[in-house]
Amino acid sequence: AIERTFSIIKPDATRRNLTGKINAKFEEAGLRIVAQRRIQMSEAQAKKFYEVHAARPFYADLVKFMTSGPVVVQVLEGENAVAKNREIMGATNPANAAPGTIRKEFAESIEANSVHGSDSPENAAIEISYFFAGADIVG
Ligand code: CMP
Repeated sequence: AIERTFSIIKPDATRRNLTGKINAKFEEAGLRIVAQRRIQMSEAQAKKFYEVHAARPFYADLVKFMTSGPVVVQVLEGENAVAKNREIMGATNPANAAPGTIRKEFAESIEANSVHGSDSPENAAIEISYFFAGADIVG
């Protein structure tokens, strides 16, 4: 089915001017960027977005990293978009990411791993609603 997923191009990638190269990976794989905005995430936004990881030892660092520079928040649309985007991104840890994936080619570390993508259609809807109103998404 045609789905939507939520994506973030993270500060390590915007800092290295990789937005276009990362977007090309999505588009070449058949995903359509139906909403996109470059923002500076606030500490409150980052804390809320990653609330599920609040008890993890890396939480404070992750919030610091995600607010360390601009990010690009996006909605990607296409057949099986949630799973497809996870394939395009590759494993969370770039050391384990498959050849050709965004994280294999671009990520600096398990934390500075260039992109975020929703892990389920349910979470995609929640994450999209944090950053986009319905009228901002043009399919
Ligand atoms: P993301 O897919 O956005 O989901 C949670 C993020 O936490 C993850 O990508 C990484 O940026 C970060 N992360 C996950 N595991 C670790 C870890 N073991 N050490 C540091 N950061 C991590």
